[in-house]
Amino acid sequence: MTPSTRIIPAADADAAAASFLSEKEGRYVVITDTTVEKTVLPRLKRIAEGAACVIAVPAGEASKSVEGAVEIWRRLVEARLTRHDTAVCVGGGVVTDLGCFAASTFKRGIATVNVPTTLLGAVDAAAGGKTGIDFLGLKNEIGTFHHPLAVVVDASLFATLPRGQMLSGYAEMVKTALISDRGAYEGMLDFDSLVADRGRLTALTSWCVERKMQVVAADPEEHGVRKTLNFGHTVGHAIETAALLDGHEIPHGHAVALGMLHELRLSSRLLGFPQEEVERYTERVASLYAGCLEGVDLTPARLVELMAHDKKNTGSGRIALTMLRSVGDAALGLSVSPAEMHDYLAATAIAL
Ligand SMILES: NC(=O)c1ccc[n+]([C@@H]2O[C@H](COP(=O)([O-])OP(=O)(O)OC[C@H]3O[C@@H](n4cnc5c(N)ncnc54)[C@H](O)[C@@H]3O)[C@@H](O)[C@H]2O)c1
Repeated sequence: MTPSTRIIPAADADAAAASFLSEKEGRYVVITDTTVEKTVLPRLKRIAEGAACVIAVPAGEASKSVEGAVEIWRRLVEARLTRHDTAVCVGGGVVTDLGCFAASTFKRGIATVNVPTTLLGAVDAAAGGKTGIDFLGLKNEIGTFHHPLAVVVDASLFATLPRGQMLSGYAEMVKTALISDRGAYEGMLDFDSLVADRGRLTALTSWCVERKMQVVAADPEEHGVRKTLNFGHTVGHAIETAALLDGHEIPHGHAVALGMLHELRLSSRLLGFPQEEVERYTERVASLYAGCLEGVDLTPARLVELMAHDKKNTGSGRIALTMLRSVGDAALGLSVSPAEMHDYLAATAIAL
């Protein structure tokens, strides 16, 4: 079944979400976290006031747990929600992953509407249908595919985000542009998410969500073209995990920005991706994330070991990854042996 999610770019998320919900039968609850409840929800008065209840889980990744889901299910039962009702998830990727997971399993699945409040949550987590919780220390180990009915994109909700969170989201925007086409990529390189006006940020964010939905509609369960969305994530996830293990939790997008740098260099080495583009990327994008990995052990053997455990691998012992022949031209279904990856990393000194 082709997933359909309405992307609603809005100057006023409260009015846009209220209008969408008024056309839908049934009641709704709001699922959020304790930080967003204080910083953003007061700006979504109609949504908050019209809800059967507001469920606020503690802010942070730790809420993406079985216990977090149980708490939401308990509150949904107490609110006597029926199968015709809706869960409105207002928050970053943690809230949309957890809230949509709980909703997708409650009474075999109720409808969801996402109102992302982080840039990363908007461009990467709120659309596409992947829901999940962490389990036994493994990220997103339990989850479902459940597409939201709508995603309301209003960049004014990002106003209270710290700089690091904006940069984290920007990395995923660059990825979307890199795998799409040259025009989009040039536009993204010229775009500064930290100083952009709200209208332009809403428009570019919505473009990223639309673009993601086009890819997802073509390949909902990631057998082919959806893998292009993983560009930068094979090395990126290994970097993110290494940092976490060393006690330096870095935002997801920072790891992806540096993962993309490695995967562009690998693309250049193995598929002839233009070297001058790698240099431009390093100067314009990767340099924004300089210094974030200080103190993290990134020895080649360690990164390769972490990549060997990547969910995307097929069990052949090789490391699966998406590479680019040029901007907008991704090569799918490729892999390298652990020894090749080790040689590449050992020969590469990335100084940022
Ligand atoms: N489902 C997917 O396809 C997908 C894709 C990418 C990431 N994710 C998931 O998303 C999560 C990361 O998302 P995230 O970076 O948004 O993290 P997050 O949801 O934890 O938000 C980061 C922090 O910012 C706070 N916050 C949110 N909005 C705010 C605002 N407007 N102003 C001030 N503070 C605000 C939150 O309370 C939290 O403390 C991870 O769990 C990741 O696995 C999912």
